[in-house]
Parts: sequence; C-alpha cells; structure tokens
Amino acid sequence: MKIARFSRIGFILAASGSAVGLGNIWKFPYIAGESGGGAFVLIYLVTVLLIGFSILISEMFIGYIGRKDGVSCFESLAPKHKNLWKLTGFQSVTGLLIMTFYSVVIGWIFNYIVTSVTSLPTSIQEAESTFTTMLHSNILTQFFYHTLTFLIITYILTKGIKGGIQRLNLLLMPTLMIIIVGMFAYATTLDAFSQSVEFMFAPNWDKINSRVFITAIGHAFFTLSLGMGAILTYSASMPKDSNLVQNALWITFLDTLIAIVAGLMLFTFLYEYGSSPAKGPGLVFISLPTVFYEMGIIGNFFAVLFFISLAFAGLTSAVSLVEPMIEYFIDRFKWSRLKASISMGLFFYLFGIVAILSNADAYKELLSFGSRNFFDWMDYITASILLPLAGLIMALFIGYRVEKQRVESVLKHQFGAVAFKVWYFSLRYITPVAMILLLLSLMEII
Ligand code: TRP
Repeated sequence: MKIARFSRIGFILAASGSAVGLGNIWKFPYIAGESGGGAFVLIYLVTVLLIGFSILISEMFIGYIGRKDGVSCFESLAPKHKNLWKLTGFQSVTGLLIMTFYSVVIGWIFNYIVTSVTSLPTSIQEAESTFTTMLHSNILTQFFYHTLTFLIITYILTKGIKGGIQRLNLLLMPTLMIIIVGMFAYATTLDAFSQSVEFMFAPNWDKINSRVFITAIGHAFFTLSLGMGAILTYSASMPKDSNLVQNALWITFLDTLIAIVAGLMLFTFLYEYGSSPAKGPGLVFISLPTVFYEMGIIGNFFAVLFFISLAFAGLTSAVSLVEPMIEYFIDRFKWSRLKASISMGLFFYLFGIVAILSNADAYKELLSFGSRNFFDWMDYITASILLPLAGLIMALFIGYRVEKQRVESVLKHQFGAVAFKVWYFSLRYITPVAMILLLLSLMEII
C-alpha cells in the first residue's frame, strides 16, 4: 500500500502539469491555424471529449483501482491471461525513450532563457543561424544544459510523489499560468489581437478533410499525455474516494485553456511584428525570438518569461515521463527511490547525449539509421507507434476485457447513467477505430 498520496489539488495540478507541455504552447496553435482555425478547434474539442477523455478516464481507472506500478495494475485488473495483459504495463518504457530527446529540448529552452537576457537575434537569418549552430555544432552548450536538466529532474524525483512531484507542480503550474495569462493580457491591448482571434477561431470549413480529423485525434491523445502510464501512475497515488470524472474534466479544461490562451498570445505577437505563424520548431526558437527583439526592452523581459514558462511546462511533463519506471522498480524489485531515480535518470541522460551527438555534423552519419538520426527515431517510434498503440490496447482492455460491472461500480455514479453509456460506447467502438486510423496514418500506411 502506498502511503504518500497527492492531495486533490496536487493530483489535478500534477496531471495537468504532465499534460501541458510543448504540445500546448507551440504545436496546438500552429496545427489549428493550418487546419482551418475555428473549425479545427471545434473538431478538436469534440475529439478531446469523445476520444482523449475516454482513454484518460480508462488510464485513471486502471491506476486508481490497481494502486501500484503499471505492470502490477494490469496484472491485478486482468480477469484472465494476466501474463499477457501485464505486458501493457511496459508502456512506461516509452516515457524513458521520450526523455532521451525531451530532456535535450528542455536544455535548449534553458539556453534560450539565458540568451534572452543579452543577445536576442536581430533578424530571422541570425535567429536561424543561432539555432542551427546550436543544433549542429554547439555540442558543449547542449551538453551543459542537458546535464543541468538531468540533475534537476533526478533531484525532484528522488524526493518522491509528495515532496518532489507535487511540490514542483504546486509551484510551477500556477506560475506558468500567471506568466501566460499576463502576457496574454498584454497581447489583448495590441492591434493584431483581433487578427489572431480570427486566425484561431474563424471556422474555415474548406480546409476540413479526413486528415484534419486524424490530426485532431492525434493531438487530443498526445496533449493529454496518454499512452505511457504517466496518468496511470499518478492516479495510483490519487487520494481515496476521488471523483475520477471531475478530475479528468479539470485536467482537460486546464490543458485546453492553456493551449488556446498561449496560441492567441503567440499569434498576436507574430502578427503585430509582421511575422507569420511559421511551422514546426522554427516558431518558438526562430520566429519568436526575432519578434521579441523587435519589441525592444519589454521584448527581452517577455522572452525570458516566455522561455521560463516553456521550461516549466517541460519540467512538469518530464517528471511524469520518468516516474512510471521508477514506481516499477520500487514496487516490483523493492529498489529504494534513490536508486531507482538515479538509475532512470542516468538512462535518459546517457541516451540523451547520443541524441545530442546524432544532430551534430561531426557524428550525424555514425548515428543515423536509415532515413532518420537517433533523435528523430526516438521521436518517431514513441509518438507515432508506441503511444497510440498503448492507447488502443487500453481502450480494448477496459472496453472488452475488464468486467463491465467492475467499471460501472466506480464510474457510473460519477458520470451519471447517460454519460456513462456514451463513454462506454465510445471506448468500445469509436475510440478503437479512431486509434487504429491514427496509428496507420502516423506510420504513413494511409
Ligand atoms: N502532453 C505533452 C504535451 O502536450 C506531451 C506528452 C505526450 C507527454 N505524451 C506524454 C508528456 C506523456 C508526459 C507524458 O506537450
């Protein structure tokens, strides 16, 4: 039995901290813009509620009932074929694989906090060359910040659920929200704000096609941190007698709110200074620093705040990526938390170094396999295969394997009879189909 549990607000903030990440602050706004603005936002909200939410509740349920590490949770819930189902618990390994590059990206963000104070790029060309130089030849800088990231994350994890993860989130999440809302308030005073609102919300149904639906499903799933046992592991430490449905609604609400507010703020800045919503990593690391430079001294101030909020979003997600494997070694092998935290930390630290080298000109060739380098392979294997595959299996597990009565006994009164029916239906029929389509599309089969 676990002793250290989250408080109710601690759980909501920790799970939201896991959900709110780079996906909210740069990915959501630009895919929304690309896919028809308001129409996409509407489709996204429906897919979040119908598909993301279905898996979110399932993952919470598995952890809340199982009360242990992922592998043990599946084992204890499986009515039969325990040894087969418990393999699903190994989805937690995905977290460590994600961390091999996620930690490197957090390192870049730290580097940008520092350069924001002194040397914002004066033009797009300069911003581009700063970024590519860091990526391709500045191994030592990346190495330094990656080490810092490793030390911070591992230190927090050694402190456990209450003293580490919960404390971190109680501090960082409200600060992150204050920064984003503060910058958003400033953005509303600029002329370009209305343009930004239009970009995000004007429904453009012409751009809607099947691909847009798949993008929405993929993001609904990714943004809620599903498919690797992060939510499951946190839910194993949820306070007794928690209302899973209410908690899930809070997490979904906060996650979506931050995505929309950050998007409106970013695009206002970009439009106001004649830039455009560029695509991919370029948005945050190239276009935005230039815009901050254009703003003058307040730009330096905003740049620092913005990259701090991005670092916070990254750190709160990162601890949730590693914690599931730590719990696994503590629960199953009786490792001490210290030993488990340091071992898992060293794993992502050392492979993170490989990820850094695989982007560098000098080692790129050595560390590329087929069409991708190590960094990109880790991203592809986790986001495009392992996460959605685990999501699919979990939907099937709760929808078809675990006795309906067992699920009903906890969730029916929390949902209400009608909502429960909708959720269960979605879990059995809509979600699996959506996840299969997503998998095929991400693997570039359809
Ligand atoms: N939800 C995070 C974001 O929006 C990214 C993410 C995906 C994640 N899967 C995860 C974070 C699992 C932690 C655990 O950026």
